[in-house]
Amino acid sequence: MYVSFIISTVLFLLVNDGLTFDCPNSPSQWCESKEIAQACDVIEQCKKYVWKVYEDDNRVNLSIYYETLCPDCRQFITTQVWNAYQSILDIVNITFVPYGNARELYRPETKLYQFYCQHGAEECYGNLIHTCVLNFYPKSEQHLPFIYCMESTDGDTETVATQCAQKSSIDYDQITACTHSRLGNQLQHGYAVQTDSLQPPHQYVPWVTINGEHTDDMEKQAEKDLIGLICKSYKGSNPPAQCK
Ligand SMILES: *[C@@H]1O[C@H](CO)[C@@H](O)[C@H](O)[C@H]1NC(C)=O
Ligand SMILES: *[C@@H]1O[C@H](CO)[C@@H](O)[C@H](O)[C@H]1NC(C)=O
Repeated sequence: MYVSFIISTVLFLLVNDGLTFDCPNSPSQWCESKEIAQACDVIEQCKKYVWKVYEDDNRVNLSIYYETLCPDCRQFITTQVWNAYQSILDIVNITFVPYGNARELYRPETKLYQFYCQHGAEECYGNLIHTCVLNFYPKSEQHLPFIYCMESTDGDTETVATQCAQKSSIDYDQITACTHSRLGNQLQHGYAVQTDSLQPPHQYVPWVTINGEHTDDMEKQAEKDLIGLICKSYKGSNPPAQCK
C-alpha cells in the first residue's frame, strides 16, 4: 500500500516534471483533466461544453446602493435582485452597499460616527445590521437570503432581523455584538465613504452600477429586467441558458 503510494507519487512527479501528457486518441477522454485537455489543446472547449465553468474574470459586477427602509429598494431587492440571484448567480457578482441617502457626522468626543437616515433611526439600525451581516457572511449564498427576508418583511427592525437571522442561519448574537461595536461603526463608515465617492454621485436609491458604471437608462432596465441587463453585460463565451 505504502510502497505503491510512493511509486505512484514518483511516477506522477516524473510525468509532471517532463510535462509529457499525451493527448489520448479517444475524444471522450480529452476533458478528463486540465493537463490532458491542455495536451489536446481543447481547454476552452472543455470549459465551455463539459466543465461548464463561468470564469470569474467575466463575472458582471453588480453593485446596489440602497437603504433598508426605502420602498423602491425593498421592491427592487425582493423581485429583480432575488430573481437574478436564483437564476444567474454563476455570472454575476452582487455587492450590496447599505447606506443610500444617509449622512454621517464624526463625533470627536466618542470617536464614533453618527448616522442620520432618510427613514429615521430604525433605518440606520437596519443599515447597520446589513453592514455587519455582509461583513461576517460575505458570500451571496450566505447573506442574500437574509437581506431578501428583511426587505420582504414588515415590522419592527429588531424583531424582523431576529426572525430572518434564524431562517437564514445567521448567528444573530454575533451580529448584535457587531452592531454595538466600533467595528460596526467603522464598517458603516466604510459604506458611507464608498457611497459618497460614487461618480456620478447618486441622486436616488436604489442606485445600481454595472461594472462600476451607472446611467439612468441602465437603472430603468435594471428595475424592469435585471436578468436581461446582466445577460447583456456578460462578456463570457458561454452565457447560461437563462440568458437566452
Ligand atoms: C466582486 O465585487 C467586489 C466588490 O466590487 C470585488 O472586491 C470582488 O473582487 C469581485 N469579485 C469578482 C469575482 O469579480
Ligand atoms: C469585476 O471586479 C473585479 C474586481 O474589482 C475585476 O477584477 C473584474 O475585472 C470585474 N469584472 C468586470 C467584468 O469588469
